[in-house]
Amino acid sequence: MDKNAIKVENLVKSFGEADSEVVVIDGANFSLSKGEFVALIAPSGSGKTTLLMMLGCALEPTSGKIVIGDRIVYDNKWKIKDDRALRRKKIGFIFQSHYLIPFLNIEENISLLPYQNGEKPKVVKQRVKEILDYLDMGDKLYNMPSELSGGQNQRIAIARALANKPDIILADEPTAALDQKRAVSVVKMLKKITREQDVTIIMVTHDERLLPYCDKVLTIKDKKILVEENSDEHII
Ligand SMILES: Nc1ncnc2c1ncn2[C@@H]1O[C@H](COP(=O)(O)OP(=O)(O)O)[C@@H](O)[C@H]1O
Ligand SMILES: [Mg+2]
Repeated sequence: MDKNAIKVENLVKSFGEADSEVVVIDGANFSLSKGEFVALIAPSGSGKTTLLMMLGCALEPTSGKIVIGDRIVYDNKWKIKDDRALRRKKIGFIFQSHYLIPFLNIEENISLLPYQNGEKPKVVKQRVKEILDYLDMGDKLYNMPSELSGGQNQRIAIARALANKPDIILADEPTAALDQKRAVSVVKMLKKITREQDVTIIMVTHDERLLPYCDKVLTIKDKKILVEENSDEHII
């Protein structure tokens, strides 16, 4: 079985043209396996969000190659017919804000994506309940986002990211708005998902205290991506 989740070759991203061109990523090479929990840590403005959006097929690279699972999605141009379907079916996104819709309850918020994927109400209802039970939030099905704390809403955002059974979850500073205790609880939840669901998660963070929970740490240095593997005895 192919264990490759993400492979990037000579990935380049610049914004603007000619005199105003800014190169953000200049020849990134790395690969990640299924089920890996990966941190991405680098200073503000160094290209973390840019990299995540390219991996999520939501931002076009300038050149290079991106392989998701066994599919070449970009090879100097997009190789996929329907990037929106790919995102909906293969990739989950989590952001610093939970972006739950305030006038829909938790069940409805999590159901939106599966419905977009054309799944039947009965299947969706069952799946949403399963995911919430799995994340110990089963009693929140009919709550409104405003009735939950910031940490709880972020866990609902994780549940929503899982609703389309993604192979990859891209999380852009998911714990930045949380205190240390809630941040650790969110990170433990993400780790559990990588271990039990074989999902690969890339989590952007500024918090070095969260790095020991991860299998690998990516950093951006001189517009290149460096990969450091956490040794087993250091992993929490
Ligand atoms: N759409 C854009 N147009 C021009 N420059 C951009 C755009 N998006 C990002 N950048 C630039 O790319 C660099 C990296 O941004 P970003 O990926 O958001 O960094 P990070 O997430 O690490 O803070 C920054 O210098 C930013 O100004
Ligand atoms: Mg960013």
